[in-house]
Amino acid sequence: MNKRKNQVFVWPIYTRVIHWLIASTFTLSFIFSLKKNLLNLHVAVGIIFGLMLVYRIIWGFVGPRYATFNTFELSLAKLKFYFIEKVQNRWREIPAGHNPASSWFTLIVLSLGSIISITGLLLYGIQEGKGYLGFLNCHYYMYMDILFDIHMYLSYTLLVWVIIHISGVLVEQFYHKTGMLFAMITGYKKTKGIDSKPGKYKSSLTYVFLLISAMVFYVSIDGRNNPFVVSIYDQINYEQENPAYAHKCGTCHKLYPPFMLPASSWERIQDDISNHFGEEISPDHKKEDNRISLNEQRTIFAYLKENSADHSTRKISVRVMKSLDGARGRKSITKIQYWKDAHANVPPHIFRSKEVKRKANCFACHKNFDKGMLENIDIIYYK
Ligand code: HEC
Ligand code: HEC
Repeated sequence: MNKRKNQVFVWPIYTRVIHWLIASTFTLSFIFSLKKNLLNLHVAVGIIFGLMLVYRIIWGFVGPRYATFNTFELSLAKLKFYFIEKVQNRWREIPAGHNPASSWFTLIVLSLGSIISITGLLLYGIQEGKGYLGFLNCHYYMYMDILFDIHMYLSYTLLVWVIIHISGVLVEQFYHKTGMLFAMITGYKKTKGIDSKPGKYKSSLTYVFLLISAMVFYVSIDGRNNPFVVSIYDQINYEQENPAYAHKCGTCHKLYPPFMLPASSWERIQDDISNHFGEEISPDHKKEDNRISLNEQRTIFAYLKENSADHSTRKISVRVMKSLDGARGRKSITKIQYWKDAHANVPPHIFRSKEVKRKANCFACHKNFDKGMLENIDIIYYK
């Protein structure tokens, strides 16, 4: 790009690339968070967002002119003056680097963004039992709610913050006509100052960072068997764990995983086995499907209670226990408040549709649930 009069080169290509990557990964991860089955994509772009912030923080110390933190204008008096001058003098001269407002803006984005990225990674491990931090789930599962709240509320705060920033830039662009928007595209600002001339090794640092990010992104969107997204839970082999459960309880419906309900619920189901949701189950029923011996019932329910929600740190178990708050479990999870809340956004007619038929037919909407897996990426959203 040719340099015109009254222009300073302030943002080298990689400062601009990083700026737009931070902006776009934040926006995309926000959009992907709206559908739970896009969790892999949410995490993949979230990781890039986090890496770009790390890079931007390093850049704040070793970056080129105008990018380093020591050029930031953080005096509150100057911030106040910046706004007063903005109102009083439409044609005021702007600084080549960060003005007081954009200095504060950048620092706050970096702080909020870092907390959002860190809580996101922790949440992925602690709540979902996935990724490199999945091992934290069994120790710190009790913090999943607080982490979720911090992650979500700070993301909304950052979104509001970004909207304020965009409005500010548009005012600069179209009212003050300082061309601030174009500066982040072309690198040139309409003002006076010394051009930024970043050296070769700084450029290489950027390319290494971008390369690592691209690799991380590629790995994390793909499947479920790489260390970035792998689950700490394996599929359950009921045949191996409890053959009686696999053979006898899987005839009328697919097998519900034991961690879905608390021991008190399994106890209720056991007590009411002769009236099992309208079906009579007994040792000498004339229909094969309904015939389960007392001995088999005992081993089945011992197995279910031993592996019930009370003994699990999976998200669904922790949330079900919390929702019961010491009360005795219901026979159906669909009567437990947590389940109702989790499905509040599912239109009621979907449960009656021909693909689903009943609320308790979890298997129609949660792929691999019959194998004991309950992952967000497996949720099917019917129209
Ligand atoms: C003869 C058929 C039949 C057999 C055998 C059977 N069930 Fe069921 N089960 C049902 C029906 C019908 C429902 C109700 C489904 C509904 O609400 O849509 C049900 C529902 C359930 C639910 C409730 C899921 C929920 O939270 O809403 C659980 C748990 C369950 N069965 C466990 C078992 C266990 C354990 C066994 C083996 C001891 C078993 N079932 C064997 C017919 C059967
Ligand atoms: C009609 C399809 C459907 C059925 C049937 C269904 N679910 Fe869901 N479930 C969903 C959808 C869709 C979501 C995500 C809702 C959202 O995005 O707000 C969800 C969310 C959940 C969540 C919360 C996941 C999270 O990350 O917060 C749990 C737990 C869950 N379902 C368990 C079950 C269980 C157990 C059953 C069976 C008793 C069941 N679901 C039956 C569609 C269904």
